[in-house]
Amino acid sequence: MQSETNLPVPTEAEQQLSDALVAAIHAEIAAAGGMIPFSRYMEMCLYTPGLGYYSAGQRKFGSGGDFVTAPEVSPLFGRCIARSCAAVLEATGGGSVLEFGAGSGRLAADLLGELATIDCLPDQYFILERSAELRQRQQQTLQQELPGPADRVSWLDALPEPGFRGVVLANEVLDAMACERWRWNGEQVEQFYVTGNGQTLAWQTGACTADGLASTVERYVDEYGLAPGYVSELNPSISPWVQGISGFLDNGLVLLIDYGYPRREYLHPQRSSGTLQCHYRQRAHDDVFFYPGLQDITAHVDFTAVAEAATGADLQVTGYTSQAYFLLDCGLDTLLQSAGPTAGMDYLQQAQQAKTLVLPGEMGERFQGIGLVHGLDTEIPGFRMHDMRGRL
Ligand SMILES: C[S@@+](CC[C@H](N)C(=O)[O-])C[C@H]1O[C@@H](n2cnc3c(N)ncnc32)[C@H](O)[C@@H]1O
Repeated sequence: MQSETNLPVPTEAEQQLSDALVAAIHAEIAAAGGMIPFSRYMEMCLYTPGLGYYSAGQRKFGSGGDFVTAPEVSPLFGRCIARSCAAVLEATGGGSVLEFGAGSGRLAADLLGELATIDCLPDQYFILERSAELRQRQQQTLQQELPGPADRVSWLDALPEPGFRGVVLANEVLDAMACERWRWNGEQVEQFYVTGNGQTLAWQTGACTADGLASTVERYVDEYGLAPGYVSELNPSISPWVQGISGFLDNGLVLLIDYGYPRREYLHPQRSSGTLQCHYRQRAHDDVFFYPGLQDITAHVDFTAVAEAATGADLQVTGYTSQAYFLLDCGLDTLLQSAGPTAGMDYLQQAQQAKTLVLPGEMGERFQGIGLVHGLDTEIPGFRMHDMRGRL
């Protein structure tokens, strides 16, 4: 991706927020002896209380924000996911839904609305959200839109106790976890750090200090024949996060939707500069030092890493497919038809939204869904139409 040179300029108040975060980053760099791992920098940019991108008050999602996620594109997304949830809740004889990183609360509202319509409400709908600011926003969305089913929603501060039955959901959460950035220099693996002189922030490479990073990347170099100079990312949280879910999931499905690739495509020669991406007011660019705290920073998801983590945590990969096939298999076209061409503008608008969700050049092929199960042996809507597990 190219750097954007003409990004919009933030307001004075926004710049002050960013300045405060930058000062905290410089202080941490100085205390660490001159540099911090990129993962720590990304973590601070996104989650520093009161200052990080997800922890301060910016608009973030939707057309007035920095990027648009699938639930913000259309209620059809949540209504389709409801079909998968309903099948699982039926197979598990009831149970609950736990959503990680619920953003504005849009998916929870649409999903619960649809489950209420088809008379398949979960016992409870839990949300586990790291950002206190977003938690408030989710509460507002649900109270305003679903006063009835909202009674079933509660916010967790930690993972549930073992014995959970039902569905665990995360849409665009893995891409928002802090990752390490690395480079294969032809002889050894280097790790990227962030350094600063109190004024500006800059990249610096050095020996690998992140746990297991060097040995993991050396394995990739051998397996995929990576050329010297190849740069990419690794999300060290995937495995412990999946392990954590496996610790409480007794019977049910983990559904993860995000943008990413199987590892063979993730480490394709064409992606030799990695997958880091920043989002600011609907512009995507690659300058991670642009107004820290005011923009989103993400990395694509290595779905092979998710599958490996699942297998290591005693979960089975029940399905892997593109968002387009997932939604179509959940009946997107039928749901759209039920709006009815006679509904005029409403139908046209929904048809346009459906296109954004499924067209290959839009979200349809860039986003993938992976399903992990424990103690569940049932066909799950979403994963029946096009099985791509062979690519993992
Ligand atoms: C890109 S946003 C996606 C929001 C929402 N799921 C959507 O699709 O609109 C990422 C969300 O994940 C949350 N998040 C990131 N890491 C998390 C974690 N380990 N546990 C819970 N939430 C997390 C962020 O605070 C934010 O709400």
